[in-house]
Amino acid sequence: MKIIGGPASQALATRVAREMNIEPTLCEFNRFPDGEIYTRIMEEPMDEVTIIQSTATDSDLMTLLLMIDACEDAQVVNVVIPYMGYARQDKKFKSGEPISARAIARSISADRIFTVNIHKPSILDYFNSDAFDLDASDTIGKYISSLHLNDPLIVAPDAGAMNLAENIANKMDIQYDHLEKTRLSGDTVVIKTKNMDVCGRDIVLVDDMIATGGTMAESIKLLKNQGASNVYLTCVHPVLAKNAVLRLFNAGVRDIIATDTLEKAQSSVSVAPLIASSIKNF
Ligand code: R5P
Repeated sequence: MKIIGGPASQALATRVAREMNIEPTLCEFNRFPDGEIYTRIMEEPMDEVTIIQSTATDSDLMTLLLMIDACEDAQVVNVVIPYMGYARQDKKFKSGEPISARAIARSISADRIFTVNIHKPSILDYFNSDAFDLDASDTIGKYISSLHLNDPLIVAPDAGAMNLAENIANKMDIQYDHLEKTRLSGDTVVIKTKNMDVCGRDIVLVDDMIATGGTMAESIKLLKNQGASNVYLTCVHPVLAKNAVLRLFNAGVRDIIATDTLEKAQSSVSVAPLIASSIKNF
């Protein structure tokens, strides 16, 4: 087995290789003078290869496609896409739009494909290969437990994040809740927790991804106003676009805890053991 990390997932690929007691395979990533991407895998392909590459940018996706092509001589090609870009456009919201998640999935061909907490599990059906979604909630739950928070409560900012919040809370054996928006008038909404009192408690807001930070910034302000002691954020995918980090700290977050599906300063939880055990189990 060879583990081949793309440019977006070099540290994660190295961690996965270490979990499996093998050396990661070296690759060259470069650009031709006209800007086109050049990549070269520096070792001969073996029977089975696992390519690990998140696709947060268009260049990341193109590099992944080139890496897959470069592995044509391998008997089995596994592709791990820890963070899959374009997944949020998983249906046509307006006529004339593409189903972007489907277009991306159809472009990726391998023997097995693994994603991590993909935005919607139904996206897996768009791949033409066997596709599996890995769940990082146990890994995140273990990490948050180690922080020994005060009377912690897990909170999802919306219904879409409820499953993840529930899974993390169950792992930690603590309560979870979600925020609820009530419209008072055309331009006034009140957001509050549905069932639980947050006063004096450490709150962990959970979402699959933080992009601009808008959802979380509003949620942090609300929870602080309601008397929460500390508000922590956790997500699987720290997209953290533009000034999201500043925005979240300005809103009063205590800390941002994310996984290394995207390699950011906030990626303190590694999904490498999860990926390594899933590959080994095939
Ligand atoms: C939405 O469906 C996702 O689960 C996140 O809630 C969303 O992407 C967060 O975006 P932002 O950080 O820009 O508010």
